[in-house]
Amino acid sequence: MDHMRVVDPDKIGIVAREDRDSIIVAEFDPPLETQGVQELVAGLSTRPTPADSVDVRVIEYTPEVHDSTALSLDRLTSHTDGSFLGRPPPWFVLSCRRADTGGGGASTFIPVDDVVGAAPSWVVDGLARAEFRFLKTYDGDLTDSFVGPVLTRRGDGAWLMRWRADHLYRPEPVRDNGTRAADAAAWLHEHVDAAEPVVHALGDGHLALIPNGRFLHGRTALSAGSRRRIFRAWVF
Ligand SMILES: [Fe+2]
Repeated sequence: MDHMRVVDPDKIGIVAREDRDSIIVAEFDPPLETQGVQELVAGLSTRPTPADSVDVRVIEYTPEVHDSTALSLDRLTSHTDGSFLGRPPPWFVLSCRRADTGGGGASTFIPVDDVVGAAPSWVVDGLARAEFRFLKTYDGDLTDSFVGPVLTRRGDGAWLMRWRADHLYRPEPVRDNGTRAADAAAWLHEHVDAAEPVVHALGDGHLALIPNGRFLHGRTALSAGSRRRIFRAWVF
């Protein structure tokens, strides 16, 4: 499939170094456990990263948790990870320990180049030059929020996106810098909502290394009582 490269597990790092624009998928048999994900991420990191310092988040339907969409059965709207950070992780890993057996929980990806290509120039201008607030939490605490543009250029000129919007919050313009910032954010929100994503269901043991900022990502709703179990880790 376009945008996606399937490689041998021991080639992930080599391929990632030469191709920062594709989703790299590998199959591990047996599936990686937490420690295996930590070791892989430590090896992929460009800064010195001890394996035991890698934060691995478990994403699994947890009925008693009510304040996290990721831990619910709901679909996850398209976003980039770590949007509240000054420097979001350039990559992240999704490792499937146990797939959804009911046909739910497929990963969805929207290439940022497709979004930029579809956007009118005033939208690109607003997203690249205005400054928006990205929240870490929705409790009113702005301490860990980030203010900056939605679109930036990577060193080689490729577009990078920072975006997280849902039914609770959309990034608000803090400085419009002469652009139609609020309209541009509204255009993006609606476009992303209506866009046809690349859909890929990770099977047991499948791991995806995703260039964050080059794709918006989300997931389809989980099936009832899903036991899908995903390990997620950021690669810095
Ligand atoms: Fe995410």
